Amino acid sequence: MTDFISLPFYDLFHESGHVPGIREKLPSLLTGAQRSILEIGAGTGLITTSIADWTPAEIFALEPSAGMRGMLLSRLSARPELLKRVTVLPYDALSVDLDEPVEAMVMINVIYALEPDYRKRLWPVLATQLEPGGLLIFTWHDGGPPAPSPLKELEARQVGRHTYTILSEIIESDEERCKARYLYRIMENDKVISEEDTVGYAYRPVRDVIEGELVSAGFAQTDAPEGLLAWRLGLQQF
Ligand SMILES: C[S@@+](CC[C@H](N)C(=O)[O-])C[C@H]1O[C@@H](n2cnc3c(N)ncnc32)[C@H](O)[C@@H]1O
Repeated sequence: MTDFISLPFYDLFHESGHVPGIREKLPSLLTGAQRSILEIGAGTGLITTSIADWTPAEIFALEPSAGMRGMLLSRLSARPELLKRVTVLPYDALSVDLDEPVEAMVMINVIYALEPDYRKRLWPVLATQLEPGGLLIFTWHDGGPPAPSPLKELEARQVGRHTYTILSEIIESDEERCKARYLYRIMENDKVISEEDTVGYAYRPVRDVIEGELVSAGFAQTDAPEGLLAWRLGLQQF
């Protein structure tokens, strides 16, 4: 699993990456969710604990990766008051089967990981797990996948005497998919002490595609701040 290569870098780069923007934009969308929220692809819990701070709702944090889930459970263990309110679901989004439909679903930086066929099958499943009128919120970058580009440094972070760096290369891309290489490097001064790379695919469907899929699953788009899309499940489920 490529997971184990990127895992030690995750919080180091994301706590100050997409997370501050999401923490600013998400609370206003969740004001109506007081009873229950499903977070899909909760990762290490950077957003999970924030959701718990904003709302009194019961939270279902779904995360298929054992490595990410381990970090999520560590984070929850450091907040023992949350252990009664957050249930960690150890499977992928298509397998979700809750006892009652939730009021809202949140999916932050996950859609890029879903293959088109998986994604198309997912929306109707989520519709069965959301109460009528409930909200589905996810991060969104329009414009399709990035064009091929050579290996370049994305960011570096200092940890004691070491520098952690992530580099990325877009190897190829088409209308929806790109093949990317990520290189995870740890250096002490000029000496590389660890370097591992992964190659994988990411998916960036254009707006018309995502809109068609969600409308046919019974969702209608509603307002959301830049970088997020919000969809309300029709009162009449299809
Ligand atoms: C970039 S991380 C985002 C984690 C977290 N939402 C955050 O914002 O920090 C993407 C997460 O989606 C999860 N994921 C990938 N495919 C998934 C699927 N089919 N169902 C649920 N989660 C999935 C990965 O395991 C990973 O934890």
